[in-house]
Amino acid sequence: MTTETPEGSLQVTDTRTGLRYELPIFDGAVRAMDLRQVKASDDDFGLLSYDPALVNTATCRSTITYIDGERGILRYRGYPIEQLAEEASFLQVAYLLLNGELPDKAEAEHWAEDVTHHTFVHENIKKFIDGFHHDAHPMGILVSTVAALSTFYPGAKDVFDKESRRVQVVRLVAKMPTLAAFAYRHAMGLPYAYPDDVLSYAGNFLNMMWKTTKLEYKPDPVLEHALDVLFILHADHEQNCSAHTMRTVGSSHADPYVATSAAASALYGPLHGGANEQVLRMLTEIGSVEHIPEYVERVKAGEFRLMGFGHRVYKNFDPRAQIIKQVADQVFEVTGRNHLLDIALELEKVALGDEYFVSHRLYPNVDFYSGIIYQAMGFPVEMFPVLFAIGRTPGWLAQWEEGLLDPEQKITRPRQLYVGHPERDLDSDTPSTGK
Ligand code: CMC
Repeated sequence: MTTETPEGSLQVTDTRTGLRYELPIFDGAVRAMDLRQVKASDDDFGLLSYDPALVNTATCRSTITYIDGERGILRYRGYPIEQLAEEASFLQVAYLLLNGELPDKAEAEHWAEDVTHHTFVHENIKKFIDGFHHDAHPMGILVSTVAALSTFYPGAKDVFDKESRRVQVVRLVAKMPTLAAFAYRHAMGLPYAYPDDVLSYAGNFLNMMWKTTKLEYKPDPVLEHALDVLFILHADHEQNCSAHTMRTVGSSHADPYVATSAAASALYGPLHGGANEQVLRMLTEIGSVEHIPEYVERVKAGEFRLMGFGHRVYKNFDPRAQIIKQVADQVFEVTGRNHLLDIALELEKVALGDEYFVSHRLYPNVDFYSGIIYQAMGFPVEMFPVLFAIGRTPGWLAQWEEGLLDPEQKITRPRQLYVGHPERDLDSDTPSTGK
C-alpha cells in the first residue's frame, strides 16, 4: 500500500443513493478498490470498474519500462531505447532490465560468463524435441520445451529464494536461444549444433542456427550486431499481453519456466508477437507494388487488418520501428536488398497518406520491418515469433520478479459482470442430463 499523499481527489455522486464519495488520486489513478465502498444498499457487493482487455486499468506499479505513446518514447529503467540500441549490448540491456542498473565492467563480464555457461540444455531435451512432427511450428516447440525445463529444475519452485530466482533467470536467458535453434534444426532435419562459448549471445545463436560442417562458425559481424539490436528493441514493452500473462501466472507462485512458457504462448498470437510472421505472409501475398491500392481498399473495407500497423499504446509512431529501418539498411548491404522491402516502403507510404489510417492513428509498429530483416538474414517466417521470444525473455523475467516481490500484489483474480441466466430449475423439457 502506498504511503504517499494523494495528489488530489475525485469527487463522485452515486445518483442511486445521492451519496457523495471522495476517491484519492495517486500517480494519476484512482484505486479500483476505493469504488467498493460505493453501494446501492447495505447488502450490495460494491461498485466494480468494467474494463474489458484492461485498456484503462493499471495492474501494477513498475520501475522497469516507460512508454509515452503520444510522443513515441520508450525507455528501459530510464534510458532511451535509441541510446541503448546504439551503445549497449543485448546482454547489458538484459542485466539492466533485471537488476535496475547497467552492469559495470566486472559485472558485465561475470553476467556474460554466467549466461554462456548455462547455454547447454540437458541431452534429454533433444530427445523430447525429436518427438515433434517434422513440420511442427518452432514456436509450439519452444513453448513446450521451456515448460519442460520446469521438470529439470524442481528447485525453481522456490520462487521466494533469491539465489534460486537468480539461477533460473540466468538459465532462461541462456537456454532460450538454444531451444529456439534446436527447434529450427529439428524442422530442417539437421543435427543440433551445440553452443560455442567464445561467441557473443547473438553470434552464438547464429552459430546454433547455421553451423554446418566447418569446425568453427564465424558470424558476420554486421548481422550479429543487427540481431543484437533487434533483441534489444524487443527486450521489454511494459504491460503487454505476454508480460501480463507472465505476471498473472507468476502471481500463483508457479515457477518461472512454466510462466515463461505461458508468456511465450501469449506472444505467439498474430495480434502480438505473431504479427511479424503475418507481415511477411501479407507482403508475399501482395506480391508487387501495383497490388497495394487494392489491398489497402480491402483493409479499409474491414476484410482484414494491415499487419505490422497500429499499436495499443503508440499513436504517432513506434520508436522501435524507426531504429529498425536503420538496421535494415545495414543488413541489406550484406545480404542484398529484400524485394519485399519495396512493397513494404510503398505500403507504408500509401497507408500514411490515407485518411483511414491517419484518422485511426495507425503507424508501422516494430514488426512491420523486423520480418523483412529476419528473412534477409535467412530465417524462415516460422522463426520470427521465436526470435521475438528470445529478445523478450529478460523483460518477462524482470516483470515476473517485480510482480512477485511487490507487497501490494497477490494472486491475480479479476471480477466479472455476470450477464447469464438467473437461477432456473431442471424440468421435463430440459434435454436429457444422461442420468
Ligand atoms: N489495420 C486496419 N485497421 C486497424 C488496424 C490495422 N492493423 N489496427 C487497428 N485498426 C482499426 C480497428 O479496426 C479499429 O477500427 P474502428 O474503430 O473503425 O472499428 C481501430 O483501428 C482500433 O482498433 P483496436 O483493435 O481497438 O485497437 P487496439 O489498440 O485494440 O489494437 C493492435 C492494437 C496492435 C492489436 C492492432 O492495431 C492490430 O491488430 N494490429 C495488427 C497486428 C500487429 O501488427 N500487431 C503487432 C503489435 S506490435 C508488437 C507487439 O507489441 O506485440
